Amino acid sequence: MNERNIPPAVISRLPRYYRYIEELMSEGIERVSSSQLSEMMNVTASQIRQDLNHFGGFGQQGYGYNVRFLHDEICHILGLDKVHNMIIIGCGNLGRAIANYGNFKSRGFNIIGIFDINSELKGMEGLGAPVYMMDELDEFLKDNKVDIVVIAIPKHEAIKLVEPIVKAKVKAVWNFSHTDLPFPDNVTVENVHLSESLMVLSYRMGENDLDHSK
Ligand code: NAI
Repeated sequence: MNERNIPPAVISRLPRYYRYIEELMSEGIERVSSSQLSEMMNVTASQIRQDLNHFGGFGQQGYGYNVRFLHDEICHILGLDKVHNMIIIGCGNLGRAIANYGNFKSRGFNIIGIFDINSELKGMEGLGAPVYMMDELDEFLKDNKVDIVVIAIPKHEAIKLVEPIVKAKVKAVWNFSHTDLPFPDNVTVENVHLSESLMVLSYRMGENDLDHSK
């Protein structure tokens, strides 16, 4: 459980709040009401008030929410006020796309190395972090503080990473391989499956077609 016992459903909505609040900050807006947020985000004002009440109810009647305060609180709860060192395993299409996405760094996710087995990729430049070979991984994990390992290799290969990651006491794994890996509870794992999101989209398209055919 997190430090303030915020329900997981609220936590899962925080990145979306964060995105909108960041936009307001960049536009120099200092305060926002729950009804304004409701209109922007297409969520009811009462849901917004309930969600934001979990952080101490700092909205004020007639004033709304202080945008910077909201931003800093959500940032803190999501751990975005810290720097997290990440490495990527797999320098293929997916690994490179993640390495090339500049927004991670600005949110404190610092990619310090990319690992692959393909010797042709050793020393490859232009990805913002050096490319190393897999036989350098154990040494690298000993010499560097790695907080997050991103897994971007096929599933039958990904299983081999469990042991070195656990041994190096890495705290978290962002797993893109299409399998649930047997990490112990002290390793936080977030599995990402773009195809599952696409299946949900497909289902919702079907629902929408039914609604409009009525
Ligand atoms: P890719 O074939 O372009 O790259 C895979 C890379 O992994 C290659 O550079 C290869 O040399 C390297 N590799 C293979 N075995 C390795 C090992 N044991 N250690 C280190 N490196 C190793 O494939 P792509 O498109 O980058 O996808 C990577 C994996 O991620 C695939 O298995 C794919 O199914 C999965 N994937 C998952 C997605 C998701 O939403 N969860 C989305 C896209 C891909």
